[in-house]
Amino acid sequence: MSDVVMGLVCAVCGTRVAIGTPLSWVCPQSTPTDKHHVLHFESDVVPFRPTEDLNPFLAYREYLAVDAFGHAIGLSDADRIDVISSLDHAIAAVAGTGFKKTPLLRNDSISDALGFTAEGGVWIKDETHNVGGSHKARHLFTEMVHLLMAERAGVVPWKSAHGRPPLAISSCGNAAIAASTIARAVDWPIAVHVPTFAEESVLVMLKSLQADVRVCPRQNSDPAGDPCVYRFREAVSQGAIPFGVQGTENAWCLDGGRTIGWEILQEMGHRGDRVFIQVGGGAFAASVGSAMRTIGVHPKLHAVQTEGCAPLARAWEKALATGGAHHAGARWNECMWPWESEPHSAADGILDDETYDWIGVLDAMVETGGSPVVASEEDVIAAFQMAHRLTSINVSPTGSAGLAGLLAVREQIKSDERVVVVFSGVAR
Ligand SMILES: Cc1ncc(COP(=O)(O)O)c(C=O)c1O
Ligand SMILES: [Zn+2]
Repeated sequence: MSDVVMGLVCAVCGTRVAIGTPLSWVCPQSTPTDKHHVLHFESDVVPFRPTEDLNPFLAYREYLAVDAFGHAIGLSDADRIDVISSLDHAIAAVAGTGFKKTPLLRNDSISDALGFTAEGGVWIKDETHNVGGSHKARHLFTEMVHLLMAERAGVVPWKSAHGRPPLAISSCGNAAIAASTIARAVDWPIAVHVPTFAEESVLVMLKSLQADVRVCPRQNSDPAGDPCVYRFREAVSQGAIPFGVQGTENAWCLDGGRTIGWEILQEMGHRGDRVFIQVGGGAFAASVGSAMRTIGVHPKLHAVQTEGCAPLARAWEKALATGGAHHAGARWNECMWPWESEPHSAADGILDDETYDWIGVLDAMVETGGSPVVASEEDVIAAFQMAHRLTSINVSPTGSAGLAGLLAVREQIKSDERVVVVFSGVAR
């Protein structure tokens, strides 16, 4: 079975892109002045029969859009498997680990502390030992597999590795580290656009991965918004390949992110009642939601933001008031705009002032009967402290923010429900 994913379609303007189109990062209607387009994958709901592989990209290969892409451009099964396996080995040589399904375990201490019965409880998916210390590398892996498959099939405009355009990303944290790790593994040059306040430890790590680190102070001519994003977009307009974790800049990040959802579903099956996912740009939650859709199993998805930056919850309300939260993409301007006040929270990895992938997150919440949750800063701190007191996972405040969402709505959840949270990143 191949080609579960049939094509890409813009969730805003409806433009379709054939699955075998190389370098199909963005909607053809997306322009530097109109970024309000995002390609989503169109897939069939199919029986879920993963293989036994420990590597999620092999176990769920047949459900991945990038596998359908490789097939469409003429690569054999053996070739597609080889691209994935070789990249994984190269990453392991750089990162000390390749991709392996990450643990998902009921945490008895937190389940007891929150008053769940033996039937219910809190399951924690631990991404802190994943490649690059967070879930982010999953998103970037499929972007790189797309590039390597396209190269192998000879459908890229450059003739050899020497002619490769550089990769570009805007991020000061986990995504930058994950992107630089994968780029290093295949010796592909990468420009990383970071803010002036980027942490020294992250900069050191990026430099050790031989990334071209570009500190981006605000320029006088910059409009409101993130100067790193502007410099990143300039690099892309000059030919760099967008290699970040926003579906609006590279849709193929939304493919690999789904492995985390499939892992949860494989482990929990129909027994999972709710999944809480912390939301910054929204690619993470959109991907988990999309994974549920492909195989038709539906724990309720709760997208968690903090009170210091909650544009997604606002979009949900606006969408409900203007025709419904399902397929709200055509109403982008009415529903989603940057958070006006300066975003702030200890969960500083989810302070994106705009939820770029909001459409996919809203769709998944509607389809699963979920809802957005806005956690107070007290909940963010309490979740972080609880994680460090009751687990042995060295999670960051961003990584435990899904648990903060659970704390915020615990009273609305029955005590025999099974709840999943993802500890998505390590404390650095
Ligand atoms: C550890 C961690 N968790 C969650 C997120 C949120 O992911 P997304 O921006 O895709 O919503 C981030 C993003 O930076 C992160 O670093
Ligand atoms: Zn479009």
